[in-house]
Amino acid sequence: TDESVPVDTLLASPLHPAAVPGLPLPVALYGFDGTSGRRNPQGADLAVTAERAVYEQAVDAAVVESVPEAPVGGIAATMTRLHGGFTAWNATPLADRAAVLRRAADALEQRQPEFCGLLVREAHKTLGDCISEVREAIDFCRYYADQAEATLASRALPGPTGESNTLHLHGRGVFVCISPWNFPLAIFAGQVVAALVAGNTVAAKPAEQTPAVAARFVALLHEAGVPADALVLQHGEGHTVGAALVAHPLVAGVCFTGSTAVAKAINRALAAKDGPIVPLIAETGGINAMVVDSTALPEQVVDAVVQSAFRSAGQRCSALRLLCVHEGIADGVIEMIAGALQELSVGDPSQLSTDVGPVIDAEAHANIAREVTRLEGSARVIGRAPVGLDVTGHVIAPVAFEVAKVSDLSAEIFGPVLHVVRWSGDADAVIREVNQLGYGLTLGLQTRIDSRALRLAAEARIGNVYVNRNMIGAVVGVQPFGGEGLSGTGPKAGGPHYLFRFCAEQTVTINT
Ligand code: SER
Repeated sequence: TDESVPVDTLLASPLHPAAVPGLPLPVALYGFDGTSGRRNPQGADLAVTAERAVYEQAVDAAVVESVPEAPVGGIAATMTRLHGGFTAWNATPLADRAAVLRRAADALEQRQPEFCGLLVREAHKTLGDCISEVREAIDFCRYYADQAEATLASRALPGPTGESNTLHLHGRGVFVCISPWNFPLAIFAGQVVAALVAGNTVAAKPAEQTPAVAARFVALLHEAGVPADALVLQHGEGHTVGAALVAHPLVAGVCFTGSTAVAKAINRALAAKDGPIVPLIAETGGINAMVVDSTALPEQVVDAVVQSAFRSAGQRCSALRLLCVHEGIADGVIEMIAGALQELSVGDPSQLSTDVGPVIDAEAHANIAREVTRLEGSARVIGRAPVGLDVTGHVIAPVAFEVAKVSDLSAEIFGPVLHVVRWSGDADAVIREVNQLGYGLTLGLQTRIDSRALRLAAEARIGNVYVNRNMIGAVVGVQPFGGEGLSGTGPKAGGPHYLFRFCAEQTVTINT
């Protein structure tokens, strides 16, 4: 059992940072700010008062312009234009395409407060989240530029005497990139710059809730050197503009981040078309669990739970939905979660001190509120964060419920709602139940037995496993991000294999 493990073995576990005094925290290669030397992927390093004021002023100054929907009738012209632009962009040397991404990263870095202000105003994300998000978008540009140069160049392959063999990678054609509102800059940017640097031209459709930040980033990319006929923005709803883009005969690939249902609908639409087989790269949602055994440190667990379940108002595909806590420590952990909920600051996203801001819009609010009401009728409320009477906007009070079993969850609630179940016996059985949910995006493990952590991680059919920490905020180039099963097709964003899926490959064999 958990309790049979001697305490000194637990403390010696290399998986537990506290066991290794002085171990440096991981530094993200791509998130590292070489100028100031500061690094914090969560953006919480903004204690410097002068800089803080710059960001707060940028929020006050941000103006969200309204953006007209692209006429569906104009999509054919867009696709023809992008198809026409493909030959020249694909023939642009790799180093030049990478240089465009690096210029975009530099420009974004210079204009960080402006983009943060726009994100707060348009997506209602907390200022802390927005700082992390702009950082992530910069990371994507620099990482994919480096990866393109490192991995996409033509290479000679071994062959018999009298023969030369070369493998070439190039763009596929026109890529359609469809991105979500929860990371309206970082995910939008990641998809678009990956497709571009691989040599594709891009029709980019941002979420209809967050068009302005996408429009400003596309303008920045054009200023950085992306030709007008290599990238065209198409605003509009998924079921009209998105569907028309996907259905167009000139589409060579689709990159989509959003719901599993829409990813499947896109897959069906692509399969039903005449003409070439068109690949889909899909990143979708998850019913993400954290499994806590009786050796885990309750304080560490609760900190990780609060970050993972409630940060960004739970509107991350990586967010914790289901905490599975061992019976032996469940009462203490549950009590501490109730206490931690009381400490959360909920409300105005423009304040750096706010932990949890509003959800994206009235529709999301209504959907989450309906689920909360349903759970109030069937599950025990563990705790709920207080929301001041002066708080405005579509705020959902972060809340935790105790439910009976893992299978009580059948769908992702995309908001600050945590389910907690108790378990006893076999941690491997809990992982099997989590696997049976069919999603495979993120998993948290909390244990001081490192052999157990490694075994459970290996058993989990899940793309990102985090041990003894929170399970959100994957860092580009450090924690390649993406799942399997109902959670997506892969390859992982911000990982070394991502760009290949945007490429066509050609082997040239010459009899010399
Ligand atoms: N990449 C994001 C994260 O890791 C997706 O939600 O949190």
